[in-house]
Amino acid sequence: MTKPTEFSSWKSLIEHQAKLKGTTLASLFAADPARFKNFSATFGDVVLDYSKNGVSDVTMGLLFDLARDAGLEEARAKLFGGARVNNTENRPALHMALRAPAAHAGNGLAFAIDGKDVAPQVERELDLLCDFADEVRMGAFKGATGKRIRHIVNIGIGGSDLGPALIVDGLRADIGGKLQLDFVSNVDGAHLDLVLSRAVPEKTLFIVASKTFTTAETMANAKAARKWLAGKLGEAAVDRHFVAVSTNIEAVTAFGINPDRMFRFWDWVGGRYSLWSAIGLSIILAVGPHKFRDLLAGAAAVDRHFAEAPLTENLPVIMGLLQVWHRNFCGFGSQAILPYAQDLWRLPAYLQQLEMESNGKRVTREGQPVTWQTSPVIWGQAGTNGQHAFHQMLHQGSEPVPCDFILTARDRSAFPEQHQMLFANGLAQSAALAFGKSAETVSAEMKAAGKAADEVAFLTPHRTFPGNRPSTTLLLPVLDPYHLGALIALYEHKVFVAATIWNINPFDQWGVELGKEMANALLAGKGGPADSSTAGLMALYDRYTHR
Ligand code: F6P
Repeated sequence: MTKPTEFSSWKSLIEHQAKLKGTTLASLFAADPARFKNFSATFGDVVLDYSKNGVSDVTMGLLFDLARDAGLEEARAKLFGGARVNNTENRPALHMALRAPAAHAGNGLAFAIDGKDVAPQVERELDLLCDFADEVRMGAFKGATGKRIRHIVNIGIGGSDLGPALIVDGLRADIGGKLQLDFVSNVDGAHLDLVLSRAVPEKTLFIVASKTFTTAETMANAKAARKWLAGKLGEAAVDRHFVAVSTNIEAVTAFGINPDRMFRFWDWVGGRYSLWSAIGLSIILAVGPHKFRDLLAGAAAVDRHFAEAPLTENLPVIMGLLQVWHRNFCGFGSQAILPYAQDLWRLPAYLQQLEMESNGKRVTREGQPVTWQTSPVIWGQAGTNGQHAFHQMLHQGSEPVPCDFILTARDRSAFPEQHQMLFANGLAQSAALAFGKSAETVSAEMKAAGKAADEVAFLTPHRTFPGNRPSTTLLLPVLDPYHLGALIALYEHKVFVAATIWNINPFDQWGVELGKEMANALLAGKGGPADSSTAGLMALYDRYTHR
């Protein structure tokens, strides 16, 4: 397998970056009055504006060459064709099949594994989920004491938590208010404690969401919740207050959940790609089956776009290539996710898992150490909160951080008059990052305001904004199920694009195993800690807890 660094396009990009380095975004905009049009792409009514990145036509041409050299089109065909692209676990990654049910999304794509169409099982499970959700939402499904369910508690972690939690908050405007939803993930008892402190046992339904049904945190929280419920209503009540979502029927049964109340998905759905599966049960309960299908439809439409649009007009391809440009050619180590939408406040955390668990890899698909950088650090916060926290560093820190601004045009809150302020702030931030404010302008302004010459000289460097800080803006017309589904699918495929260039497997996560093993060994007291730091801290723990 050729290393990406050996492609002629990679080498050309290094030379090209060295030449382009001195070019400012201001000069790129000045030279091309149509830069916005020329450096933006659309998927339906979603706009990707990448004009405020330090790229030219030549840059983009070379990046598309790199995509071709890396075999992106062939890799994409394998992904959609159900090949075992997760080569360390010998599995396909066919989350796209979950959002293609013909009945609603109907993107015309067919998905098969070893020649067997997966649509029938996907549709059957989706129907079961929707029927159950309808029963709960309409009050036909009751708790053990005959009371209507009013509170859903999803117990899961990682992909069995982050996706549903993101969507349930993201679609706040679509929730009728019939049900309260909470998510418990952390093994810290404080998390469960907080949620149970506002739960009424007779009216609470727990969803134990775990692909493997072996994840220590989820099992601990599920056992504690069951004990709490059985303590309040008796052991027999567990049957009507617990449902499971998993691929592991044996473990679900062993836990004591009725298999009739288990919703299934399959090993070809990766944890961080699972919100579209039965893991999305909490979403269906929150917004109802129809809107969940709209969410699937948005993602399905992006699947088709990614599968069929030419590379040069393909949003996930452009997004992935820009990440590669910033990471490997500009040397930027992190990327900020800035949703200017409070309802998307969980997006940075969601994308941390999607991007870093997928592409935080140090060896190639073949197991050779990479000699190029892979995933950047992903971080961020909802705008405008971040502006009063870390944007100082974005504007004047010692290293540029490429930013993704996610803006929505139409507001769905009860206070739409504030949306203009929100939107203006998002636009202003990306423009300030790009164009900055020169020392000349800063000092001229201070002089005009009557400041003394020595004060002007002293303050000018502090008040100067260098600009040239890259950002990309994704504009959605509105935050609704369809567009949120599309947004998430864009990022999923973007991650695949970058992984393909880097020649890494984005669908495994071996890096999470060692810590789990070591925590288990510490808990079991096996062998004792080998290093003085762990031993010293354990001794203090014992002293402070009087063990
Ligand atoms: O952190 C590792 C991981 O396997 C994630 O990939 C996954 O989303 C999470 O744990 C939860 O796993 P499960 O759904 O099997 O409980």
